[in-house]
Order: sequence, then C-alpha cells, then structure tokens
Amino acid sequence: MDETLIKAALAVLDENWTGRFTRPSARLYPHQWSWDSAFIAIGYAHVLPRRAEQELRSLFTGQWRNGLLPHIVFHGPSGNYFPGPEVWAVTCNPNASSHPPTSGIVQPPNHAIAAWHLYQYARDRTQALVFLNELYPRLKAWHDYLYRERDPFHEGLVYIRHPWESGMDNAPLWDQPLSRIAIDGPLPFQRVDKQVVNPADRPTDTDYARYLQLVSLFRTCRYEESRIQERCPFLIQDVLFNTLLCQAERDLAKIARVLGRDPEPHEARAAQTARAINQKLWDEAHGIYVDYDLVAESPIDVHVVAGFVPLFAGIPSSEQARRMCANLNSRSFCRLGDRCYAVPSYDKQAPGFSRRRYWRGPVWINMNWLLYRGLQRYGEQKYAMWVRNAIIDLPRRYGFYEYYDPEAGCGHGADRFSWTAALVLDVLYTCRSETVPPS
Ligand code: GLC
Repeated sequence: MDETLIKAALAVLDENWTGRFTRPSARLYPHQWSWDSAFIAIGYAHVLPRRAEQELRSLFTGQWRNGLLPHIVFHGPSGNYFPGPEVWAVTCNPNASSHPPTSGIVQPPNHAIAAWHLYQYARDRTQALVFLNELYPRLKAWHDYLYRERDPFHEGLVYIRHPWESGMDNAPLWDQPLSRIAIDGPLPFQRVDKQVVNPADRPTDTDYARYLQLVSLFRTCRYEESRIQERCPFLIQDVLFNTLLCQAERDLAKIARVLGRDPEPHEARAAQTARAINQKLWDEAHGIYVDYDLVAESPIDVHVVAGFVPLFAGIPSSEQARRMCANLNSRSFCRLGDRCYAVPSYDKQAPGFSRRRYWRGPVWINMNWLLYRGLQRYGEQKYAMWVRNAIIDLPRRYGFYEYYDPEAGCGHGADRFSWTAALVLDVLYTCRSETVPPS
C-alpha cells in the first residue's frame, strides 16, 4: 500500500476538516456540500469511521421538514461566499431549515450509498448499526421527497431543476435548455470564484447569470415545488442523478434489512427507476445513456461521462454494457494506450470540448471512481484497472486537484480538493482484486 500517498490524502482532508464537516476546498467552497460529503465519508470509512459518521450527521442537520436535503449547508458565517444564505432566502418556505441556513436546491443522492459503504467496511459493526439506525429515517425522508415531489408522471424518474443540482454545473448538457433563459445587461454581482481560481477553468458569466435567474424564480415561487414545476424553464430527467438514486434505493433496502425493517418498498422503487432509465434514457444508436428535457419533451443528444455511470448501478444488460465499453474505449472518450489519462467529462470529438473548463472536458476523480466500480461490476477488469490506476496516478503526480487535463494530466480548479483525496483513499484501501459486492 502506498503509505506516502495515504498520508498526503489524509493531510488534505485534515486541512479541510472543520471539526464538524469537511469543506470541499478551503477557499473556493468553504461550506458543506451535499454529494461531496457522501464521497468524503466513503474515503473516511477506512480510516476515520467516526468522522465519516459526523460528516453525514452534520449534513442532515440542514434537511428540510419535507425531506429535501439541500446542496449547501452553511454551518457558520457565510463570509464572502456567493451565493450565500441571503441570496437563497429559503425561509420564505415553512419547510426550510433556518438553523443552519441552507441553499434551496439539491444534489445527486449518493448518501445511502455512503452509509452502506460505512457499514460494509466497519470494524465495529455494533456502532455502525447504531449509526444506520439514526440515519435511516432521514435517508428515507430524502428519497421519499424526491419520488413524491420530483416525479410528476410517476415514471420512477425524478427531475432536476437547476444545473447545480446535477453536480456537473456547466456540462454541455445544459447549453440548450439554458438558452431558454434570456439575460440582459452585465452581471449584477461580484463572482468570488474567479478571484480564487483561474477564470478560464470556471463557468462563464453568462452561465452564472442564468444560474442566478433560476434561483430568483425559486424565491418568487417560495420554493413550492408545484409552482416551480409550472414555471421553470429547466426541468431535466438526468442520467447521473437517477442512477445514483437507483443505487441509493438498493443500498437503503440493504440498510433496512440489517435494521430489521421492510426492504421491499426500496427494492420496488429501485427496480422501477432502473427500468425507466433503460426505457427512456438509453440511446440505442450511440451506446450511451442520455438526459431527457421535460420542457422541450425531447432527449438531450449530448454525450458526457455521466452517460456511462448506469454501469455503477448495474442498470445496463450485458449487451448494452458491451456497447458502452466500446464507446468508452474510443477516440471520443479514452482509448486504452492513447495519450489519455482517464475518462474525460465530455466527448473529446464534440464541439465545445475543453481540456480545462470545469465540466466541459476535464477528468473528474468522482466520475472515474463511479466508472471504476461499474466496470468491475461487469467484469471489465482491464479497463477498470486502467481507470483505477489513473485515480491513484493523477493525484500522485500532480496533486489533489478538483479536475485534470485529460491529455497533459496537470490539475485545474481548486487544489487540495477533498473528494479527490477521499476517493484515492478508498481505492487504496479496497483490494485490487476485490469485486464490488453484489447488490
Ligand atoms: C462544484 C461542482 C459540484 C461540487 C461543488 C463543491 O459546484 O460542480 O459538483 O459539489 O463544486 O465541490
């Protein structure tokens, strides 16, 4: 095991640990982010299990009364972070949490996956069970919220209503849907992110203007989902979000079983979501999954790394998986043996691909981690090992960056980024030959 890399990863996490939760990055993201915390807990599971529990516990202190788990929880003063609690102004909704203040949107639901991971790797199973017992009702309320409020046609597919909800803020997926939002004049606010990292690595001002316009609509609707649904120009059934929900429901079923509760409702929802992803989001012509735009009532014909993540939840058939692997192992994504470190976030041959701009091309460690586990699940050992080696190699050579240039390898965005460190820990601690436990 690589002791030096383990020490270096732990040092990043220690720097970002506040005593209650882990900041994704001290300067760029100084509060608690929802899906970051779940990835971070997955890394802590192997070395600091009590801290992993605290991470998730802190996040859920921001949960709303209706189950919504917010994408940012502001535990202390918001400082100069933008947009802070005053911009979100969520307390106009009686369900919202005011202590701690939160944002009014969500992020991908990977939390039950993290909770189950904690239990699986726990040395003290009794303590792990106590924690699962504490978390189970909150996880259930979170998933219930999504299926109740975000699945208007009862398809088993939930929608996102803001690019930030996808976790892939400026992915080319959103270009077309966002173009429906007219913006006029210069930005009426100062962007702090552009002072912290190179603006060429970040979304544009036009993207930001649209992000903020959606927030303003949510405030006008007082965060009431039925009003938002009627008026929001951005309602998307996203592959990544629904895939993680499907796996999270499966893991919640396992949690229910070890707690002596009824796993069946969770299994039924997971099965419905898996079926719907296959029926509605599979792109037969290209061998990849694609998002569906509920406003335009059409698929979004844009191919991003998230289109392969259903492998993680065991959703594709073996024939579909074979086609996906051929697509992954091509010039569009990452052909083994080519000058390519790991799987980029966007089709390298598509218009607008960028090696450095955030979700428009760079390699993200969390997406590669999801793929690594998905490829293992389908027995694609060679490609899985390539991805695993990249997850270790990129941070070792270039540091624990937020994302990496797929060709040159160098890091971009924030340095000393928490989920990069945490997921490196996870792959170092889980044995090379280990196959992902069956669901
Ligand atoms: C960015 C990423 C998002 C992440 C957040 C905090 O907004 O796109 O996925 O959760 O930063 O790290």
